[in-house]
Amino acid sequence: MALSTKPASAQDRSNLIPYSSRLKEGRALAQDVWSIFNVVNLPADCINLGQGYMNFSPPKWVTEAAQEALHTVAPNHYSHPRGRIRLREAIKGFYDPLFGRNLDVESEILVTSGANEGQYSVFTAFLEQGDEVIMFEPFFDQYLPSVTFNGGKPVYVPLHPPKTEGKDSSDDWSLDLDELRRAITPRTKMIIVNTPHNPVGKVFRRDELEGIAALAEEFNLLVMSDEVYDCLVFDGKEHVRIATLPGMWDRTVTVGSAGKAFAATGWRVGWLIGPPSIIQPTLAASTRIVFCTNSPLQEAAAAGLEQARERKFFEIQRDEYSERRKILTDAFDQLGLKYTLPEGSYFVLLDISKVDFPDDYPFPPSVLGRGRDFRACWFIALEVGVSSIPVSEKQFYCEEHANIGEAYGRFAFCKDVETLKAAAERFQGLKKFLKQ
Ligand SMILES: Cc1ncc(COP(=O)(O)O)c(C=O)c1O
Repeated sequence: MALSTKPASAQDRSNLIPYSSRLKEGRALAQDVWSIFNVVNLPADCINLGQGYMNFSPPKWVTEAAQEALHTVAPNHYSHPRGRIRLREAIKGFYDPLFGRNLDVESEILVTSGANEGQYSVFTAFLEQGDEVIMFEPFFDQYLPSVTFNGGKPVYVPLHPPKTEGKDSSDDWSLDLDELRRAITPRTKMIIVNTPHNPVGKVFRRDELEGIAALAEEFNLLVMSDEVYDCLVFDGKEHVRIATLPGMWDRTVTVGSAGKAFAATGWRVGWLIGPPSIIQPTLAASTRIVFCTNSPLQEAAAAGLEQARERKFFEIQRDEYSERRKILTDAFDQLGLKYTLPEGSYFVLLDISKVDFPDDYPFPPSVLGRGRDFRACWFIALEVGVSSIPVSEKQFYCEEHANIGEAYGRFAFCKDVETLKAAAERFQGLKKFLKQ
């Protein structure tokens, strides 16, 4: 092979090493919606209801436990890859009654570096090249790369948006079980269920979960039940855990997150609950991916779960979120805009098809050439000063189904009351841009 005669300094050295094709397959290189609708690109005073993290602190009694852990020797060092025993005991104490089981802290609970890493480790532990993983659209954006990085193939089954004319509830987003059945092939290995759902807010009903469970049983599928918003279910709706349906414990792994539970998304502490046949292989994968999860914040999460019941923390927090949700939905009602009232999680899908913007509005190139929702959300951010996330496209839908999401912008209400009230006030400025 002829060696280059150019002096090294004259060669283009900006891309010497080719990167793996899995980054492309996992859509990890595409400019994602978060980087377009980023604070850096939007006006400095824009109220950020786009990203799903809180603008308030975790409870003081939880952060105090974190501080205490930092001042103690052991929690500054490696934890057991299964997680610190105090946290595993606390998970057991909290979840035993919810699962109706006597969970074994050695083999049925695994602490992970956020829900994301837990899910990634399940994929690593169970997927063979080409195995298919069914996810319902819109889907949480991390599933797709996590599946493809591990050789899996995502298969999409859309939730169908409400066709009603009046007020929509997230319950009106429907799952067609025949469609789900048709999506199952001999290569299907897994179904991901996300309840309460991001971004729809749907809390799957018992009959829907029974339908999914029957298919999982018939085709011997692993079910990953992403329940990171399990503490945010509103209006007395029942949160059914698919793992508790008859026969489902043996094939289900349930995913939780301290980030969502205790307003601590940056802590990266999550957990998996399931039978030893799922937890043990996942532990083997997780040990080789991260070895263990950060130790002091596991102690803090443990304190959170230990005290939550006595303090009625989740009940109080749910009522606070309910108030936050109302501030936002009242503002949409005042504008006469349609939206999906979420029964769970902290997102509202607003129907933005009535937002009327001029074709020649100075949209940036990153927004042009994408779904109408990108332009509508950009326009709202610039003209009204409240940012959101468009729902079509890569983050939530496969290409074929992106049009379903094009009618919606996702607004997060995990923000303090003052911020939401200020956003609600600004929203009234949208009136003059609405089609009649
Ligand atoms: C449905 C869903 N699953 C998992 C996660 C990730 O949770 P964690 O921050 O604990 O990794 C999120 C975060 O937004 C989510 O919305």
